[in-house]
Amino acid sequence: MEIQLWRSILCPYELAVQELVVKFQHLIAEHRENDLYSPIEQVVGRVKSISSILEKLQRKHIPIERMEEEIEDIAGIRIICQFEEDIAAVVDLISHRTDMEIKSEKNYLKHIKESGYRSYHLIIYYTVQTITGPKRIQMEIQIRTLAMNFWATIEHSLQYKYKGDMPPHVTQRLSKAADAIESLDREMSSVRNEIMDAQNSSQTQSNLVKDILNNIENMYKLSNKREVMKIQDEFLRVFKTKDLQQLERFHRQLDIIAEGYRAQSVSGH
Ligand code: GTP
Ligand code: MG
Repeated sequence: MEIQLWRSILCPYELAVQELVVKFQHLIAEHRENDLYSPIEQVVGRVKSISSILEKLQRKHIPIERMEEEIEDIAGIRIICQFEEDIAAVVDLISHRTDMEIKSEKNYLKHIKESGYRSYHLIIYYTVQTITGPKRIQMEIQIRTLAMNFWATIEHSLQYKYKGDMPPHVTQRLSKAADAIESLDREMSSVRNEIMDAQNSSQTQSNLVKDILNNIENMYKLSNKREVMKIQDEFLRVFKTKDLQQLERFHRQLDIIAEGYRAQSVSGH
């Protein structure tokens, strides 16, 4: 392989990472749009650097011609969840998609690594469209909680700093921190329902407000400006009560009024 071919080899992997980030981000948006709790909190992706690829080829004694078959994480996606329970939901979601095929799974939640590392890994097949036609590539998806990600990020920088030669006292500290992270995840899970309720009603409120203001704006264009301004004042009054049920009632009533306005404007033309 010649060195100038790197860019064209990595190109489909770049595309795959961008596509998957967009797809998972859109899943977050779709949940929010439907007033549903999203098991995905954030998603990030990266293509492995050439230097890390070379390093891995050496470490695992892989000939460069076998790179695309043997290195499964040239393209990597990381999905961050709020709660440990969300991880299974994300795996389930991915397993039902028709655009991703699961090749293998590693459950480091059940089988915690020696270092203390916890995460759920999937290797998937994903097809991208290139100028020479479809190309099926492998990708690694890491699914973990915010807390697990915090730990893994710190541990990774320390690994990098000590280059595989971590002093025992640092390893010990990290192991203790991993235990603390595990109990933090457990504590958070125990208040999951309450947190989810709070987040859901804040999302519901924001969707309601968007809908109501959209309705008011449309009515304003259609007719009697003074009346619509009164409706807007009424909305502000209801909004200030911070009562979601009142807001929902107002939303329903406004829908009926807006329907009437639309009917009037249609018959008026
Ligand atoms: P690699 O050769 O490192 O890819 O390991 P592997 O092929 O045996 O796969 P594994 O599932 O163990 O690791 C894949 C990826 O998970 C790594 O590249 C890291 O990003 C992450 N990972 C695995 N173990 C650890 C760990 O102990 N600490 C941290 N911070 N990350 C880890
Ligand atoms: Mg790796």
